[in-house]
Amino acid sequence: MKENLQFLQAFLKNPLKVGAVAPSSPELAAEMLVGIKPDENNIVLELGVGTGAITKYLQQIIPNRESYLGIELDTEMVKTLGQKYAELNIVCGNAAESYRIHQESGLGKVRYLVCCLPFVSLPKEVSESVLLEIEKFMDEGCELRIFQYAHGYYLPPAIKLREFLRNRYGKSKRSPLVLKNVPPAFTLTWSSI
Ligand SMILES: C[S@@+](CC[C@H](N)C(=O)[O-])C[C@H]1O[C@@H](n2cnc3c(N)ncnc32)[C@H](O)[C@@H]1O
Repeated sequence: MKENLQFLQAFLKNPLKVGAVAPSSPELAAEMLVGIKPDENNIVLELGVGTGAITKYLQQIIPNRESYLGIELDTEMVKTLGQKYAELNIVCGNAAESYRIHQESGLGKVRYLVCCLPFVSLPKEVSESVLLEIEKFMDEGCELRIFQYAHGYYLPPAIKLREFLRNRYGKSKRSPLVLKNVPPAFTLTWSSI
């Protein structure tokens, strides 16, 4: 409940950066984590941790601290995450600098990129910078997973993003529609290996 309020406050302060009115549901989190089996040589990088709606379940599947890195831009959210997930590597930073942040962390290869950023509402130059960073991780062999809300799925920015990713990484694998989420969403996965 406290998380929902913090999330809503963050949304009201900065709707385009947060991009959703509520954190992801447990059902969407479960779909975002299907098939993810991290270890310290195949770590999960989570972009846009928010209030930790997906992190809460990631925590259950990572074997140790060295198997996860989270990046979140909002300082207030990071403060709360630091208290709640003190045992996880979560840094306050910009996903547009995620390759450098990961290198400086000294952690192992990024095998799973769980990206929760609201590409559709982010400024074009931010989205483009983040996509360039994602490309660096994909070049080294990782799997990219994102979610897209059903109501915006056929709007031009969402279609453009999928086209961009398809042109680079081939056809995506789409999950069934996760109805138990506000709003309902699909997950999409691209694999570079
Ligand atoms: C749609 S919310 C998802 C939050 C959470 N992962 C969830 O599923 O409930 C997007 C999150 O991305 C964060 N964000 C936006 N732009 C970012 C950036 N450039 N770098 C890192 N985080 C960013 C926002 O602050 C917000 O917490």
